[in-house]
Amino acid sequence: MNDRFLRACRREPVDRTPVWIMRQAGRYLPEYRAVRAGIPFLTLCKTPEKAAEVTLQPIDILGVDAAILFSDILIPLEPMGVGVRFDEGGPVLAPPELTLERMQQLAVPDPVETVPFVLDTIRILRRELAGRVPLIGFAGAPFTLASYVVEKGGSKDFLKLKRLLFERPEVAHTLLGKLADTVGLYLRAQIEAGAQAVQIFDTWAGILSPRDYDEFAGPYVTRVIEALPRPGVPVIHYVNGGAGLLERMKAAGGDVIGIDWKTSLADARRRLGASVAVQGNLDPVALFLPREKLEERVAEILGQGASGPGHIFNLGHGIYPDTSPDAAKFLVECVHRLSAAGGAPRQQQQQQQ
Ligand code: CP3
Repeated sequence: MNDRFLRACRREPVDRTPVWIMRQAGRYLPEYRAVRAGIPFLTLCKTPEKAAEVTLQPIDILGVDAAILFSDILIPLEPMGVGVRFDEGGPVLAPPELTLERMQQLAVPDPVETVPFVLDTIRILRRELAGRVPLIGFAGAPFTLASYVVEKGGSKDFLKLKRLLFERPEVAHTLLGKLADTVGLYLRAQIEAGAQAVQIFDTWAGILSPRDYDEFAGPYVTRVIEALPRPGVPVIHYVNGGAGLLERMKAAGGDVIGIDWKTSLADARRRLGASVAVQGNLDPVALFLPREKLEERVAEILGQGASGPGHIFNLGHGIYPDTSPDAAKFLVECVHRLSAAGGAPRQQQQQQQ
């Protein structure tokens, strides 16, 4: 059983630095595109055998140390009463009118009844993985989900969202509270179905000032984590653009803090201290570099990660669809080879001191 990912989450010594890749099942893999060719994205998410099949592709092809459930952060919104569809430009949402009354009426759905396909996918995966690598479940954080609800999809400036936070904070808090309760139940159900770690994606919390993070994002991540069974599976807490928020992310909760490439891992380690593990943080565009240059960057990150216990190698955000699968494969091989040669033993020494 390859458990180096779970060991690193718990800040235990590892034989090599574990590595997985955000969005590791996706369009950069021809094998994924072949499955996706005959089936819309949401249907794929809702068909357990197919979702399990694409989850397993990067395990076999790349040799990563963890599987992540194939699904989407927007899946639990539909049973709350928010329409979700995907078109060429990304997700398109149809929320109820953003009034206090409508937000109070939003459902907090039971995942067993409303998203059984997610739980079935997890059960199939645990069976098919048979201990080969651990399975990560995930959800969007309340703030990030609220951004999709309020903007009715993706956004560049998040103006509608920020105006709602500033002009009608009681409406925003009601929405965030409903999302936190939904996500808490949703992750709990994933863990009960067999997820061995969970990642909370607060992808867009990095657009907030520290004071607004403290009001609209951090407390709702805490509320989600408090809803999870204890003692529980490791929780990875990820924010894109979280450089100004690292200490606050740690205070909000999580056993592992996921960081993007805009903070050096050494700085992140210094600021976070030894009580949490870190995950990251290669710029996904580095996968377009020639191999020697990519290898240099991997070595730099491993060196910084090895300065304390608990480092999980990952990209700082999702892999781009036009990345070569060979580059991703090389990355995984490189992390394993270089950390076996130096990074991991140093990590071990540090812990023994
Ligand atoms: O990491 C994995 O391999 C697991 C699967 C996964 C997907 N989405 C599959 C997906 C995960 C963990 C997500 C999370 C997700 N979804 C996030 C947070 C992570 C992040 O990137 O910060 C967000 C913001 C979403 C919402 C979302 N889903 C958007 C904005 C889009 C459109 C952009 C795009 O890449 O097309 C999606 C679609 C999506 N989710 C795809 C995949 C593989 C592409 C769908 C396709 O096949 O066309």
